[in-house]
This record gives sequence, C-alpha cells and structure tokens, in this order.
Amino acid sequence: MEFKRRDIISIKDFTRKEIDYILETAETMEPLAKTSSNILHGKMLATLFFEPSTRTRLSFEAAMHKLGGSAIGFAEPGMASVKKGENLADTIRVVENYADIIALRHPLEGAARLAAEFAQIPIINAGSGAEEHPTQALLDLYTILKEKDQIDGLNIALTGDLRYGRTVHSLAYALSLYDVKLHLISPELLQMRREVLDTVKAKIQVVEKKGLDGILSEIDVLYMTRIQKERFADMAEYAKVKGAYKIDCNVLNNVKKDLVIMHPLPRIDEIANEVDATPHARYFQQVWNGIVMRMALLALIMGATG
Ligand code: NCD
Repeated sequence: MEFKRRDIISIKDFTRKEIDYILETAETMEPLAKTSSNILHGKMLATLFFEPSTRTRLSFEAAMHKLGGSAIGFAEPGMASVKKGENLADTIRVVENYADIIALRHPLEGAARLAAEFAQIPIINAGSGAEEHPTQALLDLYTILKEKDQIDGLNIALTGDLRYGRTVHSLAYALSLYDVKLHLISPELLQMRREVLDTVKAKIQVVEKKGLDGILSEIDVLYMTRIQKERFADMAEYAKVKGAYKIDCNVLNNVKKDLVIMHPLPRIDEIANEVDATPHARYFQQVWNGIVMRMALLALIMGATG
C-alpha cells in the first residue's frame, strides 16, 4: 500500500484494505490530536475553498497545525484572483509553489480530478460539487467503527438529500466495500444518484424507501443530511421537499438502544435540538473524528507515518 504523494479525489480510488489501514492510522492520531506533534514540521497545506465551509476547512488547517505544519489559503474566492478570471489550472500552478499539498473545494464536479492533472503536488478533494466528499466519508466510517467496533453486519440508513448530497455519495461507495445493509431514505425527487446506486447495488443489499416508518427499529446507524438548497435549479422543487424529514425525541421512541445518529453538519431542521442530549447523538463526535482523520490523511500523504 502506498499513500505517499497520493491524491484523494474519489473514495472509489481506494480498496477496502487501504481504507482499513487509513482507519487504523486515524486511531494512532488520537493522542497527537489531544496534544500536538512535529511530524509535519516545515510542511505547508493550502486550502482553496471556492464554496462555503466551516468544518472541512478549519479541520484541515487544525490538523496540519497539530502535526507541526502550517496552512495558508482562501475561503472567499471573491477576494482571490479567481475573481479576475484566473482559471483553476493557473491557480493550482501558482499555489503549488507555496505549498506541499492542496485541499480543494469547488462547486464543479470533476474539479478536483482536473486540479490533480495539473498539479505536481497531491490534491485532496474537500468537496466537488454534488459529486463526492471522500474525506467526510472516511471520518464517517471512522465514527461508525469507533461507535460500533465494526462496520460489517450493520443496518445503515442514509436519509435526506441523496441526489445532491456529496457526503452520502462518497459514504455509499465506501460502505459498499463492507458487509452492510443500506437503507436509502429520500423523497422521490432526491433519490440516490443513479451512478452511485448502480455501483452500490451491485455489491451490497440496498433498500430504497420514502420514509423511516417501520424500519427505524432495525437501524444501527441513522445518517441524516441537509436538503442541499443551493444545488436546486428550481426553488419550487426545493419547496416540495423542504423539511421532508425531522428527527425529534418522539420519533426515537421505538429505536435500538444503541442507535447512533450522525450528520455531516450543518443541520437545518432535520434533527431537533432536543436530540443532542440523547445518547444517540454523535454528530459533534464526528467533528472531533474529522480532525483525527485529516491528521491521518495528511501524515500518510506526506509520508510521515511508520
Ligand atoms: C457537507 C458538505 O459540504 O458537503 N458539509 C461538510 O463538509 N461537513 C454537508 C452539507 O453541506 O450539507
């Protein structure tokens, strides 16, 4: 297995063995995340975010600092030369002079792949339009593994916007490498993107449903998502599906005692605040796991682990 200088563009580029190794590496980062280390001293991460973000960008930067490296970048493309018409390829060819690795978020699908073709340094896809978000999927897997001890054998429900939500695309691909039963819960308008569904269905058992009624009692992991308003071409369509799912304490009456509820965040109204105090809520734990996972990825790509 070789991770050094590798790009992370799609979760599909990784085997189960490689993903399991990444998950093991993340575990070794836990103590370093609580203190700090010097293993990436002198290394520079550039975060180029052409779309809004809180967690992903800050956690990449925090991860780099905790490893003793530094971070530069922009989160407001309106303030960068892109605004003057600079194309992505030129931006990448400039930034690679300043940095050793780039984390890129872009509204266009395929943007990360394109950037990797131009770049001499590794590119991490931190979200490519509605397509994929591979590092989120890895931290989601890490969360499931930590909470449940193993991923195989679980009933996992991905709920909400399965059409435009990039986190569920990457997560579904990743879960198809494990022996899980996948429940895909969405309104018809937001059904799982066809190419993802076809790939995943060929590997594991998949059930598609419009509601959680009747299945919630058998679910081990409930993964909620936000309806991705900004990706709708037509706001009338958004109005039809807005607020389609809402988890509150009432809904949780008949669930497994150890049901784990996850969400990549930000949440809008799909999980009521009262759920935060229940033992099911793990979405803030995911945020911590995001730091640990991104430390693992940076260290692996920079060749700084065992
Ligand atoms: C997600 C994203 O950007 O795709 N956020 C994240 O990275 N944690 C989810 C979302 O925006 O709904």
